[in-house]
Amino acid sequence: MTTELHDNISDTFKASIELSKKAEQSLLTNPEKHRILTGDRPTGNLHIGHFIGSVQNRIKIQNLGVETFIIIADYQVLTDHDAHDKIAQYSKELVIDYLACGLDADCGKTFFFPHSQIPELNQLLLPFLTLMSTAELERNPTVKDEIKSAGLSTINAGMFVYPIHQACDILFCDATVVPVGKDQLAHLESTRVIAKRFNKKYAPIFKEPIALLSEMPMVKGLDGTEKMSKSRNNTIMLKASEDETVAAIKKAKTDSDRIITYDPINRPEVANLIEIISIFTKEDPRIIADKISDRGAAGLKSMLAETINETLRPVREKRKLLESDPEYIENVIKRGVDKIRPIAQEKLAKVLEVMNMKYF
Ligand code: TRP
Repeated sequence: MTTELHDNISDTFKASIELSKKAEQSLLTNPEKHRILTGDRPTGNLHIGHFIGSVQNRIKIQNLGVETFIIIADYQVLTDHDAHDKIAQYSKELVIDYLACGLDADCGKTFFFPHSQIPELNQLLLPFLTLMSTAELERNPTVKDEIKSAGLSTINAGMFVYPIHQACDILFCDATVVPVGKDQLAHLESTRVIAKRFNKKYAPIFKEPIALLSEMPMVKGLDGTEKMSKSRNNTIMLKASEDETVAAIKKAKTDSDRIITYDPINRPEVANLIEIISIFTKEDPRIIADKISDRGAAGLKSMLAETINETLRPVREKRKLLESDPEYIENVIKRGVDKIRPIAQEKLAKVLEVMNMKYF
């Protein structure tokens, strides 16, 4: 294990950006040569932060004609949540949200599956665990951050090794490109290292995937703090009603200046709300500010609520339809599992073969 994983984070980051740009180009010119895999932990419903970030990006890639695998990382939830009573329900909610936004389980190229339903994927964990040192896991910046933000004094072993489990999610299906946010880059690096080490030690059977860093617009929460999240109660859920949306935005933080201007340095909260409008309408933030002008914070908030409600109206309508058809949602997941499991079975068989564990 000579590669110094997570030793020089800034160099790795620069290299990742370069690779990401190349991957983006290649997805555009040769969509048929790619298979993307990405995913989420099923911990609840999606909100507008997801909508303007990861979900739009996935839809864009799907619509290029790229095979799109969406993993529902249910085992990963166990590493840091006490939510096991609701995992299947949350997984289904997640699928409903994705489909309502425009991911299309009927296009023949997009598949959803919980990784718990693919035993052969999970079995890769055992050999992969031997390909990484505990020191390397201790250095993983994402795991360190997650431990810090959860305020944990000790962590369970599942949390410690989850980057290795995530490598199983990605490598089993020969994903070429993995669309992720910056916070997941360390895991992509681990995944590439595991593929390299396995290929060198046994036989070259794994592809080294590339992280596609989506240009996620970095908007802050409605309260002006760092990140939008359901637990911080500073976002709008996709499934919220129009009235709930208006009420939540009424509570958003602004300032006492009567005239609305776009000034990210001196008026960060107002600027953030203008930026959210701008992402939805694609209009320049300064023009938006001019339009609101002396209508003040109330004008800004009503424009934001209207913009979000208008954009989400079709999504919310579709969501209701999907919600009323639980059988369809189960079927979507079942179809995903049926498509994916043979891929994992074939890969595990190869893995066992090259590790000389083929007995019959
Ligand atoms: N760790 C990711 C998150 O918390 C979720 C995830 C699990 C994932 N497996 C994955 C993302 C594979 C990309 C590829 O958001």
